[in-house]
Amino acid sequence: MHHLKVEDLYQFVYISRITSTGLSSASTLNDIAKTASQNNRKNHITGVLCYGNGYFFQYLEGSEQALTNLKNRLLMDDRHKDLQCLEFAAINKRCFAEWSLHSIVLERWLISDPRAKALLPFKPYHWAPDKWRQFLKILQNYHKEQEKTDQADVQPIKYNALGVTLGKVVGQHQAFFLIQTVLGALIILTLLWFMLSDKF
Ligand SMILES: Cc1cc2nc3c(=O)[nH]c(=O)nc-3n(C[C@H](O)[C@H](O)[C@H](O)COP(=O)(O)O)c2cc1C
Repeated sequence: MHHLKVEDLYQFVYISRITSTGLSSASTLNDIAKTASQNNRKNHITGVLCYGNGYFFQYLEGSEQALTNLKNRLLMDDRHKDLQCLEFAAINKRCFAEWSLHSIVLERWLISDPRAKALLPFKPYHWAPDKWRQFLKILQNYHKEQEKTDQADVQPIKYNALGVTLGKVVGQHQAFFLIQTVLGALIILTLLWFMLSDKF
């Protein structure tokens, strides 16, 4: 898998926004992860895909041709949009040699590592030009430590679209509270309405 000539090893790094099409299916992240890891293994591509706060960050490494082909497929994929290329350049060695594609969902309640947590809320379009390098390092270390403590693969890839949409407004972990509050308020209003309509 890793016998590419060094001269032909490239990295392709981009960010994009999830679309309503992407959000409309609860299994979008699972679907992507499944196709991607199959294809990537076949094409000798390795890397990491990160989703959080409505954004994707993907770091990929492989031959220039394989990455160009993938980039073209990604540009046509309507589950995300506004693809912004952060880097497409030759590299000497792979950072993620073992992963055909590792997916990480970045949500505050999933992450206890304070360095990783410092990156949240995840807003990659606001990053300074080279911030992704720092981000990538943290992702690498984060995964290594997870492997050590054997917590790897709590694959938290399933999520629901309503939660994500609400999460964009109020923060993922507060979405549930918001729903409860709204329902509570409705009950109180209904009771008040019954009491008052009795009197008049
Ligand atoms: C955020 C995101 C990341 C993706 N990453 C990959 C990837 O690493 N490798 C891949 O082959 N497809 C990836 N895809 C899917 C491609 O856009 C495309 O749907 C897929 O490669 C088509 O493969 P198929 O012809 O085998 O169905 C990704 C899609 C999205 C939205």
